[in-house]
Amino acid sequence: MSRIAYVNGRYLRHGEAGVSIDDRAFVFGDGVYEVCEVRGGALIDEDRHLARLARSLSLVRIAAPLTEPALRRVLREVVARNRVCDGLVYFQITRGAARRDFPFPLSAKPGIVITAKNLDPRLNEARAAEGIKVVTAPDERWARPHIKSLQLLPNVLAKQNAREAGAYETWFVDKAGFVTEGSSSNAWIVTAQGRLVTRPLDGAILPGVTRATLIEVAARLGLVFEERAFTLSEAFEAREALMSSATTIALPIVAIDGRPVGEGQPGPAARALRARFHDTARRT
Ligand code: PDD
Repeated sequence: MSRIAYVNGRYLRHGEAGVSIDDRAFVFGDGVYEVCEVRGGALIDEDRHLARLARSLSLVRIAAPLTEPALRRVLREVVARNRVCDGLVYFQITRGAARRDFPFPLSAKPGIVITAKNLDPRLNEARAAEGIKVVTAPDERWARPHIKSLQLLPNVLAKQNAREAGAYETWFVDKAGFVTEGSSSNAWIVTAQGRLVTRPLDGAILPGVTRATLIEVAARLGLVFEERAFTLSEAFEAREALMSSATTIALPIVAIDGRPVGEGQPGPAARALRARFHDTARRT
């Protein structure tokens, strides 16, 4: 079965799908995107993803190419046409195609591409069972990472460095020594005192949808939760560490820069947060 993409109003086979070489996403990275988990064919936390997309669009001043009800319909159609059961749906909106010039083009219409794919859930389960390793790097991204922009070169380089170091993720660390987030995930620790900590939405991180839902899961589990920045030194001393994203949910971290976290094994808080996530997340 060939994969089907939605491109500017049409459903096309991937092999035949394309956009203009003048598309500003291609030329400038001028666009925003979302990634939503699909589980059992249902979209997970769709409302939060759509709300964040609307925020990103407004912050970069791109008009939505589809109304929200139309976008919801097309997301479902792409999931269905690709027979996605467990996987993700990816959607990106660009400022459109126009002759290369920095100011916003007067005539271009915003463009939209939506794709969906199955992911083997066993891969994430294996990562969750074993725990993953992270390395760290200075946070050298632009100052507005709270916008889910297509411009991800620092994140790509950081992820590649992680892979070359035998790790799964890179945690960015700001100039003051505080962890911001991962290259494609939010960062958490459980302190030696048993408090679950993640950085507040201070503009230095993406407001993760999974993060927001995990905060609700933590409350249901009765975990003591603190929304505050934590330093890398504190992470080294933590009992547990974890990362979160729509494609991985919560994954326990067993080593940071080669140092074991806690016992060097997935911990109970990470396990419980992961296990309870889908009871709390909204399926639509
Ligand atoms: N990335 N921080 C960054 C920089 C991210 O790229 C992501 C997600 C997150 C977690 O956000 P959420 O829980 O809403 O997925 C945090 C997605 C998965 C991606 O780019 O593929």
